[in-house]
Amino acid sequence: MKEISRRGFLQKGIVGTTAALALSPSWVSAFTRKNYKFDEADVVIELTAVKRKHLINGTNPTTFWCYEGKLLKGSKDNLTNLPGSYLGPSIQVNTGDKVKITFKNKLEEKSIVHWHGLDVSHENDGHPHFAVGTGKSYEYDFEVTNRAGMYWYHPHPHGRTGFQVYQGMAGLFIVKDNEEKALNLPSGKEELQFVIQDRSFKENGELDYRPSMMGAFGRSLMVNGVKKPEVIKVKRGSYRLRFLNGCNARIFNMSLNGGDEFTQVGSDGGLLDAPKKLKRFYYAPAERFDCVVDFSKYNVGETILLESLPLVEGRGDKYTILSFQIEDEGAASFSTPEKLSKYELINKSEAVNAAKPKEFELIPKRGSGWTINGRGYESDSYEDYELIKFGDTEIWEFYNPTGMPHPMHIHGTQFQVLKRTSGQLEGCLDHGWKDVVLVMPGDRVQVIKRFNTFKGTFIYHCHNLEHEDMSMMRNFKVI
Ligand code: C2O
Ligand code: CU
Ligand code: CU
Repeated sequence: MKEISRRGFLQKGIVGTTAALALSPSWVSAFTRKNYKFDEADVVIELTAVKRKHLINGTNPTTFWCYEGKLLKGSKDNLTNLPGSYLGPSIQVNTGDKVKITFKNKLEEKSIVHWHGLDVSHENDGHPHFAVGTGKSYEYDFEVTNRAGMYWYHPHPHGRTGFQVYQGMAGLFIVKDNEEKALNLPSGKEELQFVIQDRSFKENGELDYRPSMMGAFGRSLMVNGVKKPEVIKVKRGSYRLRFLNGCNARIFNMSLNGGDEFTQVGSDGGLLDAPKKLKRFYYAPAERFDCVVDFSKYNVGETILLESLPLVEGRGDKYTILSFQIEDEGAASFSTPEKLSKYELINKSEAVNAAKPKEFELIPKRGSGWTINGRGYESDSYEDYELIKFGDTEIWEFYNPTGMPHPMHIHGTQFQVLKRTSGQLEGCLDHGWKDVVLVMPGDRVQVIKRFNTFKGTFIYHCHNLEHEDMSMMRNFKVI
């Protein structure tokens, strides 16, 4: 039944374009389907969702839902399997690469892949209405236009995203470009990538997924899809540490070695214009954090802790996220330049609604669930304020009158945080190009975004994945 309606949707799209070429600009987006031939694509990958067992705890294996990748065209850097990990392979490409990926669903429920943070056309964006059932596949063809950065992929079927991600479905999508390469940031063994997730397990070894109004949490931290290592051995010298908070709902209050400074060099959408020193910060699901840490400040043998402080001072526990141990001399030292990248600040006056930003109130649904402006997810409808003229720049203001944090994510282009009025808790990651912005209780946050790359229907939602599944997601349509 759902399959049929999906086909209906696609057919309407195709008929719409051929029949109404110049008439209906809303169908122009259908032209964005590229269908690269094998020869035209730089990278061709097959990504299959399967169930697979991994031994994580003790003796009972855990069944995960995993992405398995096969590189059909490209170089070996394009696809890296993480040994022993339940995560999907890390995909790495260069800006400008033409990518062709076939997603094959061998699970017993519908799924679809979303390339989080990549600016792609709506057919390539993993909108829930494109979800495919068991035995079906979905074809992605897109050119990577994003700047260098750590992006990622995960499922996006409506109502099941939280569950499927918790079962293991996620992977990194790293983009490289010349601007980043020219900086010569620590690389090779001195570039460490961390996907941090939390999971609970039942006694029989299986995952224990417990969604609630607060989200789903886990009692153990997993790093890169394996049990968190006791210590990570590093050498004295500089390292580039790149993080994805891959948790469904957990927010960290990050602190380094009891108060040492982080030197942030990048954010969701790649490099900052200049490095930014941070003592601590809130770190929400789906946000990326890229920093350079100089371990030569410490002595051989010393252990340096990356910790999460209580979210609110005096309430809750402090716990260790990662422990680094200095085992030796030998890593090169890197002095972070004052200027990192060309970075264009979007001017407020560019927004068509600069005088009256659109307001999005993050509120619970009567009974249970979550909404944006009192509305839950509807697969094919829009309010007036959710229709956007192609080419426009807009300011959106998220207001959170609730007691729960909401990391808000908008698909499509990266945006910038214009202004934040904090309720009570300060220290969110607002710098640089962003695709997720953490809206703490009582906060009002304005973001500015250009809708100038693709027409079509996209979504915005809370990236607390249980909130998303509980309907805290809406369409917007660029026409
Ligand atoms: Cu990372 Cu719409 O999601
Ligand atoms: Cu996304
Ligand atoms: Cu939320």
